[in-house]
Amino acid sequence: MAKAKVRYICRQCGYKSPVSLGRCPNCDTWDSFSEEMAEIVSTHAPGKVLALSQVPKGDTQRITTSISELDRVLGGGLVPGGVTLLSGEPGVGKSTLLLQVAAGAAQMGKKLLYITGEESPAQVRMRAERLNLDLSGLFVLAETQVPSILEAARGDWDILVVDSIQTLKIPELGNSLGSPGQLREASALVANLAKEKGVPLFLIGHITKEGNIAGPKLLEHLVDTVLYFEGEKDRPIRVLRSFKNRFGPVNELGVFEMTGAGLGEVKNPSALFLAERPFGAAGSIVTPVIEGRRPLLIEIQALVSHSPLAMPRRQTLGADPSRVSLLAAVLEKKVRLKLFDRDIFVNVTGGVKISEPSADLAIVAAIASSWFEIPLPQDLVVLGEVGLAGEIRRVGRIKERLREAQRLGFNQVCGPEMELKEGIEKQKIKALGIRHVKEIFSPELGLFKLDKD
Ligand code: TYD
Ligand code: MG
Repeated sequence: MAKAKVRYICRQCGYKSPVSLGRCPNCDTWDSFSEEMAEIVSTHAPGKVLALSQVPKGDTQRITTSISELDRVLGGGLVPGGVTLLSGEPGVGKSTLLLQVAAGAAQMGKKLLYITGEESPAQVRMRAERLNLDLSGLFVLAETQVPSILEAARGDWDILVVDSIQTLKIPELGNSLGSPGQLREASALVANLAKEKGVPLFLIGHITKEGNIAGPKLLEHLVDTVLYFEGEKDRPIRVLRSFKNRFGPVNELGVFEMTGAGLGEVKNPSALFLAERPFGAAGSIVTPVIEGRRPLLIEIQALVSHSPLAMPRRQTLGADPSRVSLLAAVLEKKVRLKLFDRDIFVNVTGGVKISEPSADLAIVAAIASSWFEIPLPQDLVVLGEVGLAGEIRRVGRIKERLREAQRLGFNQVCGPEMELKEGIEKQKIKALGIRHVKEIFSPELGLFKLDKD
């Protein structure tokens, strides 16, 4: 590598300075300076131009991680030279997952090097024993200095793991451990080596509670795949999600369960998500969403209560708060449901985040169910996008959603009338088709038995 020196760059406008400044003289932003390594390269070899037809076919032979939920989220397995960033909060199970990958690799006769800067080899061994893993064929390197890591990683390895990027150090960059410049340069060096050698590489990156962007976010552009590992405190469910993937679909979802003996794959996530659903509770509705390539049943809970505040709360977990506000406004305006003086809380259970408008009608039904304190039938699923005029709009892939609902024992579906007619053919589920939100209250539908007032 050419000799390197440090300079500072404003993240906002790109202004460069030999020293770090509190305030950028160019754009006046405060605290916007990060280190940037300026490489001084004296001579350049000319780049090699290729005719595209001469480029060998990139037949992406996939390497299995031996964990099928992980393979699926990756788009079918690892790709030679592919760099995957696995990020998540401390304690979610990143190290556990990749140690299980290491054991799987060893069993397939592949050599995986687990580079740990977080834990000592003894701690890694302890974890492996707790996981009941076969220790033979597992290799660990406890190291944080990037040059030493690169030297070791150049050996004959099939898969590389770095746990974690926050511990990597480049001696030339001094003591700024964990600084943005350090993080970026160190990760880039390891990633380049993986690319050069055509070896798949996992980088583990911590994110803090506040979703601190100083870590993994900085690296998203330099890796091929970004996975987020999420879970709620004190809950065993872990959801692995692809956020960016050069080699596969994004928003693919893998579901795991943290047990006393490591992470287990959850083959039937809908059942798990619904396992704790209260019976006959107002405000609880199930909706089939499509996550990645598969349908998934999730429970939406709403709680509507009198607000002491001038500006009532619209608080959500797993749903977009502005979407919930919009749906509340539709209910207020089109159904005359008094919500302006109520706090509204909406939770999606199981740690799933809904991103599809297909859950609109379920959110609306949950809010209404809580408002009236009337539980909806336990065997009902609700789906449909709600427009600003209160109209119910189509959702895609209705057949798959209904099949999943039936598989889990749901017998009724309320949703967009036209689409239900098409989707429901030969399916044994009762269709409650509607065209407008106000119809969920219609006596013919029989969902809300309201006293006349
Ligand atoms: P870990 O993989 O160390 O998390 P990360 O690397 O993301 O920081 O997981 C740590 C947590 O998982 C810790 O709270 C203990 C728990 N755990 C289990 O419940 N079962 C197990 O078999 C293992 C190894 C850990
Ligand atoms: Mg860890």
